[in-house]
Amino acid sequence: MKNITITDTIRYIGADDKTIDLFESQYVVPNGVSYNSYVILDEKIAIMDTVDARAEKEWFANLENVLEGRLPDYLVVSHLEPDHAGNIQKFMEKYPEAQIVTNAKALSMLPQFFTLDMSGRSIVVAEGEELVLGNHILTFVMAPMVHWPEVMVTYDKTEKVLFSADGFGKFGALDTEEDWTCEARRYYINIVGKYGMQVQALLKKAAALDIRIICPLHGPILTEDLGYYIGKYQIWSGYEPEDKGVLIAYASIHGNTGKAARKLAEMLKEKGVENVSVFDLARDDMAETIEDAYRYDRMVLAAATYDGGLFPCMENFLAHLRSKNFQKRTVGIIENGSWAPIAGKLMKASLADMKEITVLEPVVTIKSTLNKTSEAQLESLAQELTKA
Ligand code: FEO
Repeated sequence: MKNITITDTIRYIGADDKTIDLFESQYVVPNGVSYNSYVILDEKIAIMDTVDARAEKEWFANLENVLEGRLPDYLVVSHLEPDHAGNIQKFMEKYPEAQIVTNAKALSMLPQFFTLDMSGRSIVVAEGEELVLGNHILTFVMAPMVHWPEVMVTYDKTEKVLFSADGFGKFGALDTEEDWTCEARRYYINIVGKYGMQVQALLKKAAALDIRIICPLHGPILTEDLGYYIGKYQIWSGYEPEDKGVLIAYASIHGNTGKAARKLAEMLKEKGVENVSVFDLARDDMAETIEDAYRYDRMVLAAATYDGGLFPCMENFLAHLRSKNFQKRTVGIIENGSWAPIAGKLMKASLADMKEITVLEPVVTIKSTLNKTSEAQLESLAQELTKA
């Protein structure tokens, strides 16, 4: 049973999910994920979002435990994605006097997910509008596309708490002891990464608020050093590199392109580049690879030519980068091909669709396996990467 005290009158009633195989059917979550939900206890009681349907029983038990026989007045819905909205229907059926508090966009989308009769059961709020619970005054701040169009965040003026929806979320169940930045970065870049501009707009609005606690919909409640987390969000949403370093992502069929990628990593380390990470696109976690592409200022793509095109896992990686608005980086290219190498040309063409990408010369061309000529090209690329 979870009943975590955030303040005297704000309680956590969310749930950890450590059995989900893939979050959003695409992200591995070795330490699970938490679906956060909160209760504000006042003259009126507000529930801040529900949780995924997978955690229905636990959530209702947590809720009843905190309510101690009282009835909730409001369900504030900040995001309709099913990992948070999964229990709206059941909640509204169980508490027929409760009203949903949300914005017009979310309200219009509700029937896509639920068959609720909403007559007299909704309060529509717009930017800056307030809801008084008694002592607590909630202000609603619209945050479209962080991460869906209907998203809003809620600021509790009284206790200076920001209920930040997906913002400042993190993979990993709450009982996991792990570094915040690594899994929050993987979460942010892969889930919200495309919407940097919208996140920047929200950060601007948040800067005008006096925030003491951030309550996200996933991951730990942030109570200290908030400038650190906000600073990370400024970097990530601005598509700025966080650290100096090189990500080498390779797509290798029989291992020879991988060998060249690892050789380049050695060369870079010998030249004093401290952060070099090498990912096998056929086997390693795609989300982790994308995370490092954003983290570092330089990237190298190494791919085999396949069926007169690109080896598919490299195509897939580039498609992910494009869809996440990847930009502002320096990129080196290694291509392989046993009779008609074309991977380099195709990777360059794909990068041309992204903003502010500088492609380094030379493009290293390997014919099947590294030889003296291609090794010399690799050395030149390593040189250029250290200068970039
Ligand atoms: Fe955690 Fe966009 O849902």
